[in-house]
Amino acid sequence: MPAPATLVTGIGQLVTNDPARPDLLGLVTDAALLVRDGTVLWSGPAAELVTDPAGVGSDIGETIDLGGAAVIPGFVDSHTHLVFGGDRAAEFEARMSGQAYSAGGIRSTVRATRAASDDELAARLDAFVAELHAQGTTTFELKSGYGLTVDDEARLLALAARVTDETTFLGAHVVPPEFADDPEGYVDLVTGPMLDACAPNARWIDVFCETGAFTVEQSRRILEAGAARGLGVRLHASQLGPGDGIALAVELDAASVDHCTYLTDADVAALADSDTVATLLPGVEFSTRQPYPDARRLIDAGVTVALASDCNPGSSFTSSMAFCIAVAVRDMGMTPAEAVWAATAGGAAALRRTDVGHLAAGARADFVALRVPGYVHLAYRPGVPLVDSVWRAGSRVA
Ligand code: NIG
Ligand code: FE
Repeated sequence: MPAPATLVTGIGQLVTNDPARPDLLGLVTDAALLVRDGTVLWSGPAAELVTDPAGVGSDIGETIDLGGAAVIPGFVDSHTHLVFGGDRAAEFEARMSGQAYSAGGIRSTVRATRAASDDELAARLDAFVAELHAQGTTTFELKSGYGLTVDDEARLLALAARVTDETTFLGAHVVPPEFADDPEGYVDLVTGPMLDACAPNARWIDVFCETGAFTVEQSRRILEAGAARGLGVRLHASQLGPGDGIALAVELDAASVDHCTYLTDADVAALADSDTVATLLPGVEFSTRQPYPDARRLIDAGVTVALASDCNPGSSFTSSMAFCIAVAVRDMGMTPAEAVWAATAGGAAALRRTDVGHLAAGARADFVALRVPGYVHLAYRPGVPLVDSVWRAGSRVA
């Protein structure tokens, strides 16, 4: 016996991201959703319910009336670093007085993270998960990278795996101080014993490919070692200046290359001709006073663009996808529709997921009711808490 369906009505505007509908967001006004066992059975105009489009007959259990809310798919935040100790408020304050951001700040979080107990890190992580849910994020990727010893990276990934399936081994975040004179020795550790210890709890491998972190050659070695262990490839590149990281990501068929702040025309052409998503992280440029990436240039060239928070204590300590949307619209040349798509379907593409980021039949029933008439308000009302309720796999999480 299948469980009875849940009917969700009172949806003033529904973003489905269904490519079968004519516009980018697959918009439906005066919409309804039918959900069963945590999955969308059907979405469409409420008026069509009389035809019983999902064949549920009278087998409807609960009815949820959202009172005219705009409903969007849960945000898919494809880039976070949420397991860490301490914070870097003082570093942020110094930056706002003119100091530049550099990769080296990561080492202060590494010190604080190594000193923190598992219980402390887990409690903090649980609070972050609640914070994400409250803001409408229902899928998130989570990287290690603040341990940088075999044991510390392994425990960060074990903690991450408690709260998400989208876990990423980022042992190659920076070279830790104890390897300052032997970076190649650290790459040996990352590609050997550290990968062995971390792979069981990781879906992805990532490298910070940047001046002050890892070279393209080192990045290639590390990513290829991860791929040989069955991990999917993603890469941080071109955050602080142009480099060959984008070309490497495309060559290795990375699911995503993240930051993409400084791109050459050849980078844009390579991305357009690939299955690699360009994930833009507006919180980073906001919090480091760097120029924003040019989303318009990427989209016009045919590149798939995602937006993510990059929530971390150094370069971007926001977990708000709505904030990222507002900045992307205001300062990166995205339309509100493109930004909402990038924060939902784009994030799903960056994680190579087809079950999240949309609300067509077959999707996981992850949806967010907003206290506003339409999705445009996410950019139009920056900084205002618009989330009314959040559902993940058909269950209310906020
Ligand atoms: O994505 N770029 C590398 N990692 C983070 C920064 C981490 C930090 O500053 O602690 C990022 O921006
Ligand atoms: Fe990052």
